[in-house]
Amino acid sequence: MTLTKPSVVVTRKLPSVVETRMMELFDVRLNADDTPFDRDALVAALQSCDVLVPTLTDNLDADVLSSPGLTAKLIASFGNGTDNIDVAAAQDAGIVVTNTPDVLTEDTADMAMALIVAVPRRLAEGARMIQDGRFTGWSPTHMLGRRMSGKRLGIIGMGRIGLAVAKRARGFGMAIHYHSRRQLMPEIEQEVEATYWESLDQMLARMDVISIHCPHTPATFHLLSERRLKLMKADAYLVNVARGEIVDENALTKMLQQRNLAGAGLDVFEHEPAVNPKLLAMDTVTLLPHMGSATIEGRIAMGEKVIINIKTFADGHRPPDRVLPL
Ligand code: DGY
Repeated sequence: MTLTKPSVVVTRKLPSVVETRMMELFDVRLNADDTPFDRDALVAALQSCDVLVPTLTDNLDADVLSSPGLTAKLIASFGNGTDNIDVAAAQDAGIVVTNTPDVLTEDTADMAMALIVAVPRRLAEGARMIQDGRFTGWSPTHMLGRRMSGKRLGIIGMGRIGLAVAKRARGFGMAIHYHSRRQLMPEIEQEVEATYWESLDQMLARMDVISIHCPHTPATFHLLSERRLKLMKADAYLVNVARGEIVDENALTKMLQQRNLAGAGLDVFEHEPAVNPKLLAMDTVTLLPHMGSATIEGRIAMGEKVIINIKTFADGHRPPDRVLPL
């Protein structure tokens, strides 16, 4: 199927350079005031366009995707994770799904590394102290954190982002360990001097810092359950820039409160944008508002990927970033 000028609905405000290019290429409906679409608006969009460009804030579940009279043929998601889209239901409805992989890798890895350093070195706590006017001067025991060099970093999910984090952490002198669906090729493993753990449970019990880099799927929902969190050392730290649903947030909160974990750096939350109020009150956590990939360069590159996916599809070819059901 070819479409000369596909009709495209974009659910959120995108960088203006991306929107301008879309206006040149497509018959596009933009969302100038950035109000998130509710379920009815998503269905109405899917019933009136050729291509929907959603983001992770749009819940495209089986119920939405089995609505009658859908005209959309492509969901060109502006995002890497596709856990908000029931890809199998889309396929059943004859809709192709694409995402924007690769272009977020370095930015997301930077943010993970920032949290891996920030939490043990107490950066957010120190910043709050000085901004609140509570800094009364240096002393030998003031704001002591934990050294990075020599510590064991356990990466869960050694895909593109996990590997990019491993490379950064090597620069900080950390020892790299990982658990992943597949073991790395020996030459890549050697490059970052990584140790593979087939057993996640065993790895969790031995690490100083755990950083999560796997996608959220039915298989990884609460992968870090209460039982698994309890395997971690009491002086260990947890970093999550992937998806909140991978961690049992209540169990994590309880463990942090009871000092059975030293701290956590979280950029994502189980019930986003809600954050457990008990977490907000803690000094041992650094909390960020899902900004791991939020760079101007990254968002523009995501937009370019979306445009290429739409153009390729509209020209009758397989789009480069097609996502298949799990
Ligand atoms: C993604 O694309 O999955 C990111 O989480 C967005 O920042």
